[in-house]
Amino acid sequence: MDELPAPEGGSAVSRRQFAVAAGAVTAAVAAVGAPAVTPAEAAPAPKPTADWDTCMEVARALLVVDDHDRPLVPEYKKILDDGLPRTGKKAARKVLVVGAGPAGLVAAWLLKRAGHHVTLLEANGNRVGGRIKTFRKGGHEHAAQPFADPRQYAEAGAMRIPGSHPLVMSLIDGLGVKRRRFYLVDVDGEGKPVNHAWLHVNGVRMRRADYAKDPRKINRSFGVPRELWDTPSSTILRRVLDPVRDEFSTAGADGKRVDKPMPERVKGWARVIQKYGDWSMYRFLTEEAGFDERTIDLVGTLENLTSRLPLSFVHSFISQSLISPDTEFWELVGGTAALPDALLKKVDDVLRFDRRATRIEYWSPDRAGADRATHVRKDGPRVWIDTVSEGRDGKVVREQFTGDLAIVTVPFTGLRHVQVSPLMSYGKRRAVTELHYDSATKVLLEFSRRWWEFTEDDWKRELEAVRPGLYAKYRDGKAPADGSLLGVHPSVPHGHITQAQRAHYAANYWAGRDQPEAAHIVGGGSLSDNPNRFMFNPSHPVPGSEGGVVLAVYCWADDASRWDSLDDEARYPHALCGLQQVYGQRVEVFYTGAGRTQSWLRDPYAYGEASVLLPGQHTELLGAIREPEGPLHFAGDHTSVKPSWIEGALESGVRAALEAHLA
Ligand code: FAD
Ligand code: ARG
Repeated sequence: MDELPAPEGGSAVSRRQFAVAAGAVTAAVAAVGAPAVTPAEAAPAPKPTADWDTCMEVARALLVVDDHDRPLVPEYKKILDDGLPRTGKKAARKVLVVGAGPAGLVAAWLLKRAGHHVTLLEANGNRVGGRIKTFRKGGHEHAAQPFADPRQYAEAGAMRIPGSHPLVMSLIDGLGVKRRRFYLVDVDGEGKPVNHAWLHVNGVRMRRADYAKDPRKINRSFGVPRELWDTPSSTILRRVLDPVRDEFSTAGADGKRVDKPMPERVKGWARVIQKYGDWSMYRFLTEEAGFDERTIDLVGTLENLTSRLPLSFVHSFISQSLISPDTEFWELVGGTAALPDALLKKVDDVLRFDRRATRIEYWSPDRAGADRATHVRKDGPRVWIDTVSEGRDGKVVREQFTGDLAIVTVPFTGLRHVQVSPLMSYGKRRAVTELHYDSATKVLLEFSRRWWEFTEDDWKRELEAVRPGLYAKYRDGKAPADGSLLGVHPSVPHGHITQAQRAHYAANYWAGRDQPEAAHIVGGGSLSDNPNRFMFNPSHPVPGSEGGVVLAVYCWADDASRWDSLDDEARYPHALCGLQQVYGQRVEVFYTGAGRTQSWLRDPYAYGEASVLLPGQHTELLGAIREPEGPLHFAGDHTSVKPSWIEGALESGVRAALEAHLA
């Protein structure tokens, strides 16, 4: 039986009271699947609060700088552009890369270019890209046509790329992938932000720009204190977050934040981590910001924090600063999958689809009791990976791959189901077991016309073309709500609205019948306190198509769970009802009946949206997450401090490729 490596002291820290909870040690050990030990056998437990060195380590990982606070990104960028130095024939290693998301694709490509012998193992039978997944016809997925119009496509996962993410931007341009602006805020004909999309909360519907000018009606609907009646939620939140930002940046004359120079920036972030690293966003908003419950409700609802209040302050703080109207976002022409498409071309000769790693065995001189210790050959492999096919096209195939080392990019939620022998370090097993992953769910609906871009005149023309008087019927709330008007516009192709959808729709139809004025917006999106929460319009038309696919639901955490409980087929009519509450009943005439939905927590390749940490997990787990285990190296966005961003995956892919190259 493998021996249990003792918990390591040193930089590992815990918010748990190990000292007083002898039983907790046993429980934690049992939870990571190891034989139980008595407290007497365990090494002394680390202190419950984060020490300065650990906070500096997290800050450096976050800012991607080395131990001397020198930025690593320029070097990583150069490696992405020019490759790693070529290795001599003798030094070439046999490397197994597990998982062909962006982290694995990039790591495999870099190592192959450097002259190593790479095999890239992907569980999926026909698709690379992982959580970059575009619903589209054809492509490398050989997918069936997802929407009624075969030209239409939409994103199940990654959709927007911040211009401030240097590695992904450089990779996109370097590979010649075409990009264009993604509009977080709706724009006019010249691409200038207009902010006309709807806010729809507590029964009030208001244009975002109007709310920014006069927030009183909505703020009062939450019952916030009088002194906050006239302050928009984003300003309320910014005011309490700015003192935290002051630790590592200063506000310029134009109000824009300017980062402090290194190494002060690193220290500033380390102070933030030390002070708030084990705080939840809820704790920050109550204890630090001094908000009452109603103000938390307002800010939580409008700034998308409610579902993540119990999760790490640090995560939401970073994400809040990035997903903001001040950030310039980009999207890829043809869908985000254009990036993995381009990477696939670089590695298709070393890629094995339909090979799910089920067991990883490795040999390392410092792991006493390793299964292979006695019979490992001097020049023989150090890693053995068992895989299994999904058996879709016939019988299930088992295949073993061997290598000198491996880069494992599988999300830890997935790695939890992979047997690893001998036992990895205590810290790693704990991270694999405990790292918190969030849920994210999307529901996409196709329409035969981009009605959100319509003026009121456009609506009149199009509805009257369906049947005279229909425009007024909708305006007056007198149109039938039994599903008979679903997809009745002549532009809607037949055959996609099922009887089941009609029945669901009629059964769940929302009682409110008020018809707001035409949205008349391009891109951007509306927000509601209904289950849909966040709705996004496509930033650009698909050439040749007058229709478009709306991201009718984009939710995280508990907001996402509400959708995950519904069958896929039930989600479409519910999502349509939610859209109608915001935009009015009449949008139904353009609904094609074709939708797509993705629950990332239910996905057996991603096992969750991304590692969105619990309070304390940055300092408790980060060191162990990325530490190699003998010949096993670890990559994936969860090993960066940018989980849920392609940039984090690329950072990790380059880092791990470099580690493997130098190993
Ligand atoms: P993944 O992309 O998850 O790739 C892991 C790969 O490993 C997968 O291909 C999987 O099939 C494979 N695998 C799993 N288990 C095994 C196994 N046992 N054996 C072999 N292979 C296995 N990022 C942005 O930059 N912008 C966005 O707008 C954005 N939006 C997002 C929205 C959503 C809803 C989600 C879910 C993610 C979003 N992201 C976004 C994040 C981005 O998609 C991820 O950060 C990125 O895909 C992570 O890359 P990865 O290689 O680490 O992991
Ligand atoms: N990259 C993701 C997006 O653009 C961010 C997701 C953050 N997720 C979260 N649960 N906080 O939507």
